[in-house]
Formats: sequence, structure tokens, C-alpha cells
Amino acid sequence: MENLRIPGPTPCPPEVLQAMTKQMINHRGAEFSAMLSSVTADLKTLFQTKNDLLCLTGSGTGGMEAAIVNMLSPGDKVLSVSCGVFGDRFADIARTFGADVTALRFEQGQVVDPQAVKAALQKDAKIKAVLVTHNETSTGVTNDLATIAKIIKEADKLLIVDAISSMGSIDCPVDKWNLDVAVSGSQKGWMAPPGLAMVSVNETAWKAHATAKMPRIYWDFSRARKNLEKGQTPWTPAMTVVYAMNTSLKMMLTEGMQNVFARHARLGAMTRKGVKAMGLKLVAADEKYASNTVTAVWPPEGINPDNLRKTMREKYRVVLTGGQGALEGKIFRIGHLGMCDEASIQDALDALRKSLPEFGYTPQ
Ligand SMILES: Cc1ncc(COP(=O)(O)O)c(C=O)c1O
Repeated sequence: MENLRIPGPTPCPPEVLQAMTKQMINHRGAEFSAMLSSVTADLKTLFQTKNDLLCLTGSGTGGMEAAIVNMLSPGDKVLSVSCGVFGDRFADIARTFGADVTALRFEQGQVVDPQAVKAALQKDAKIKAVLVTHNETSTGVTNDLATIAKIIKEADKLLIVDAISSMGSIDCPVDKWNLDVAVSGSQKGWMAPPGLAMVSVNETAWKAHATAKMPRIYWDFSRARKNLEKGQTPWTPAMTVVYAMNTSLKMMLTEGMQNVFARHARLGAMTRKGVKAMGLKLVAADEKYASNTVTAVWPPEGINPDNLRKTMREKYRVVLTGGQGALEGKIFRIGHLGMCDEASIQDALDALRKSLPEFGYTPQ
């Protein structure tokens, strides 16, 4: 079996795979309704929210698009705060649907500077909403969302958060931090396959939704909320992913939310220590902000990271991922979220240590 160490999809526990073999049931019947209600309640616990939680059928990007079209009208002024590919994607979606986007961008490996967000908001009083990525998967950094959110809410702006690769793995208390909309995806820390986008929506967001004019049918939050009251989804849901989540969420709650966060912190630290011990550098400019779900690494000078990954995959069955956007062909990334333990990280580090000499680099 491969050691799949990419930042999603992640491997699923055997119990979750087993749950997915269940026969189809009526998605408008009582059994499914009970299951969806239970999944929604467990997600609320792990999102740390008492507000609405909607399960939409789609990948994380679908959840991002849903957040945009349900909150905004064409012409609305939006501040997009980005330190990588996924932050840029959020801005692109908003722009595509007609928002007037001001982009505040930070260099690769850097995190968002909260004070720069404050200054941008002071500069343009007409900004209505701010788009923020909690964990930037493309560079392996986690933004200081608590501080950023405080600034945005003090300025009374709508806060829309991509928490796709952090929620459920890194502490992201939706209600405590006042996140109006927060999005995640089932294939990340949730130990389930791709197919569900989970979105929390608070009262402020519902008010914005009531006047938002961007076109939407499939992603419409009102339809999702109305159907959820009956334990249903507006459209046919990804049934097997709901089966999977129904099991994986129970496993996460049995482990305990704080223990899940602590495990991710341990695995993140172990990965960073391991690659640094080989003399490699993290993409994260300040390790204080290095992500606990994915580690992005610069290969040694002159080594093509994609060739290195190929050797690791073919010789040691360890699968890493490469760089995206401007970092394509320049870095490699190790995922450590969802179903992940010390043994799988050690296996990945061992494969890296054994592969590097083949490219003329002797790890320290
Ligand atoms: C931070 C972040 N945002 C958005 C996405 C996009 O999610 P998806 O690939 O499920 O559409 C990802 C997935 O890699 C991500 O890590």
C-alpha cells in the first residue's frame, strides 16, 4: 500500500471505507435524514459553532464559490487577503462573479500581516467583505486568523474564511473568532473522501445573504437550510461520502477534538524537525506560522523536486505532492492531516533520507 502523504485526499481508516460499502438508501427517507442530522450536529461540534452548518455536494472550491455567490452582489467591494494559490483562487471566484476585488497579497512563505489588513480596511471604507485563507496549503503556512478576524470584525466587515485544510485539524473556533462564513472539504482533515463541502453560516452572514444578488441555484444557502430542516439536501447528495463522514466524525469525537489538534501539532513538528535535520529549508518564512497539516519544503539546490518525488514513489511507495502556481517544479509538500500518525511520517522521512543521495545530496 502507498503511504499517501499529500494534503488531501488523505487515506481513510478501514472503518470509514467499510461504511462506504453500505447499500444506497432513499435520500429523502427517515434513515438518511437521521444520518444527515447526526453528521451536521457532529460537524457543528468540530467547527465549534452553534450557527447553521450546511453540507453541500462538491469539492472545497465549490464551497468557496457558494460562499461568494451567497454573500455578495455584483459590484460589491471585497478585500482579498492572499499569501498563496488558494487565496488567489478566492479572489478569482469573487472577481468572476462581478465583485470589485482589491487584492492584498503577500510573498510565498509569508503569512498575512494583520496590520496590513487593518490599513487596507481603513483606506477604503466601502469594502463590504474580506476573504481570508486560514491555512494556505500551497506554501504550508497558517495565518493568525484570531487576530485578523478581530480586526475585520472591529471594522464591521463580513468575514468569509477558507478553512478547507485547517478545520477539524487545527483549532479554528468559528463562533469565538466570529467567522461569518467558514468553508471546509471532506477530503482534508476529516478522514473521508472528496465530495462534500461543509459551510458554517452565522446570523450576520444570513443578513448579507438576504440582499446578495449574485446568481445561484445549485449553491443557494436558503434552499440548503430549508431542506436541512427536513433532514434533506436540495439536490441528490454524495451519499457514500455522507456514510463516510458519519463514521469518521464519530472517530474524531471519540479521539477528542483537543487530542486531534494536538496530534496534528505533534506530526507537524515531527515533519519539520525531520526535514530540517536533513539540512532542508521550509517554505514557511517564520516557523512559528508553519502549518500543522502540510509542510512545504525547498529541495537542496539543483535537485528537481518532481524527480525526487518520483523516486520516493517508485522505490519507497511514499507519495508527496509538488508545488503549485509559481512554486510548481520548485518545492515539494508533505501532507500530515486526517488519518496520519508518527509511523507514517517516519516512513516518509526515511524515504526522503534514502532518496536524496541518489541526486547527489547527502543529508546532514
Ligand atoms: C486552502 C485550500 N483552499 C481550497 C482548496 C480547494 O479545494 P478542492 O480541491 O476540494 O476544490 C484546497 C484544496 O487543496 C485548499 O487546501
